[in-house]
Amino acid sequence: MTALSVSTSSAASLRADALVIGVAKGPKGLVVASGAEAVVEAFEGKLAEVLTTLGATGAEGEAVKLPAAAGLKAPLVLAVGLGESAEGGYDAETLRRAAGVAARTLAGVKKAALLLPAESAEEIEALALGGLLGSYSFGSYKGAGSGKEPVGELVLLAARKGSKDAKAAAERATALGEEINRARDLINTAPNDLHPKAFAAIAQAAGKEHGLKVEVLDEKALAKGGFGGILGVGVGSANPPRLVKVAYTHPKAKATLAFIGKGITYDSGGISLKPAGHNETMKCDMSGAAAVFAAVVAAKRLGLAVNVTGWLALAENMPSGSATRPGDVLRMYGGKTVEVLNTDAEGRLVLADAIVRAGEENPDVIVDVATLTGAMVLALGNRTFGVMANDDELRTRLHETAEAVGEQSWPMPLPAELRKAMVDTTIADLQNMGERMGGGLVAGLFLKEFVAEGIDWAHLDIAGPAFHEGAPYGYTPKGGTGSAIRTLVRFAEDTANA
Ligand code: BES
Ligand code: ZN
Ligand code: ZN
Repeated sequence: MTALSVSTSSAASLRADALVIGVAKGPKGLVVASGAEAVVEAFEGKLAEVLTTLGATGAEGEAVKLPAAAGLKAPLVLAVGLGESAEGGYDAETLRRAAGVAARTLAGVKKAALLLPAESAEEIEALALGGLLGSYSFGSYKGAGSGKEPVGELVLLAARKGSKDAKAAAERATALGEEINRARDLINTAPNDLHPKAFAAIAQAAGKEHGLKVEVLDEKALAKGGFGGILGVGVGSANPPRLVKVAYTHPKAKATLAFIGKGITYDSGGISLKPAGHNETMKCDMSGAAAVFAAVVAAKRLGLAVNVTGWLALAENMPSGSATRPGDVLRMYGGKTVEVLNTDAEGRLVLADAIVRAGEENPDVIVDVATLTGAMVLALGNRTFGVMANDDELRTRLHETAEAVGEQSWPMPLPAELRKAMVDTTIADLQNMGERMGGGLVAGLFLKEFVAEGIDWAHLDIAGPAFHEGAPYGYTPKGGTGSAIRTLVRFAEDTANA
């Protein structure tokens, strides 16, 4: 794991293997951003010219290496693009991404210093988090020496008088960054290794490490408790389901949040089997549960003055002789019955049980996170999650929270007319399919049926951004991204500070 440190030494005298500077697109070509003054000086004012000769433009995502000039202790300079030059300072997401690009580009390097334009604690935190997230690599299944090691240490420079703030900022970023990277590991782990029982065991161990209370309901306890949704989804698999509760409490908390994560460790579709081309990445179907777990641990590590209970609804959705059939009726936790018309609409079934169970504890707010529908990916693309809620203010708040932490989201409606097709069944109280059009909203409406009267509830459909299949960009690697964790943690933080 990459180490973060804060240093008050001067950039020129800093012993590092690489110095990272920011470059931007100015009105007359490339400009070097503030923070890199020592490097500009060492190049005798010719740095922008040299970089332009090398093809650098300052565009976002760009990374250009050059040998350092005499007078610098480091041998290498890396210039990362910040996009359009912004004299008044760069927004946090630009800094996060630039640090991420730097960390990715410098894999294999032992120690790198970031001389990017950051002064406030918030800006330093953004650099630290971007650097930690960008240094992520998943190597569990590769032989030793098969790839470059992540950058060993990232040094953030701070003026002596602000070094205490900078240190605290780096510590906050470390807590959050490590938990996001842990979630990414869980998502990237092959589904034959991360079945519900294994996930629950990891949650128990990590909970113990951080002093969190973790309770696991196994298949027997689930049957005894009447969790028909979770059991119905898991019953076709040789790996039985689990419901994990992880609780963080703070003595000064004035509010309690319940976060619920969809944890389908593999979604084959079940008897309504997915065709080839649609199941290769379905190990990512537990990204919601990974996000929720990470958020609760991060809330604890940050010491937020709020109670946060995480619920991980874990099951493996497989076809077999014991699997739930299209046409079966499940009796959900709390007593509602659901006719399962498509076993591939399984996420809403495990979530429904968890929503009812979480509601029994009367939280102030419930937020569920789920890779719930392909329809949401069609609607919003691969980088934006949908936000639905039974309360307009809460939906707006979550969307704005996401924006504040640099996550792309968009508010989506729960149109009343789409409910009818789901509840007008002759067989059961509900069916797990509604109209095809607006499928992401139909799924949201299904979940809403299980929210207890008087509880504010929101639903984040992260099916698009949870798993990144393209080339890495910014601090986002290929594979599990850790989508929604920053939003959940900031939401908890804002609740604590309200
Ligand atoms: N896990 C999938 C949704 C998904 C799709 C996640 C793409 C990530 C990327 C979910 O369980 C599913 O299969 N949903 C069905 C629902 C349909 C049968 C009503 C879908 O979206 O097609
Ligand atoms: Zn499915
Ligand atoms: Zn699924």
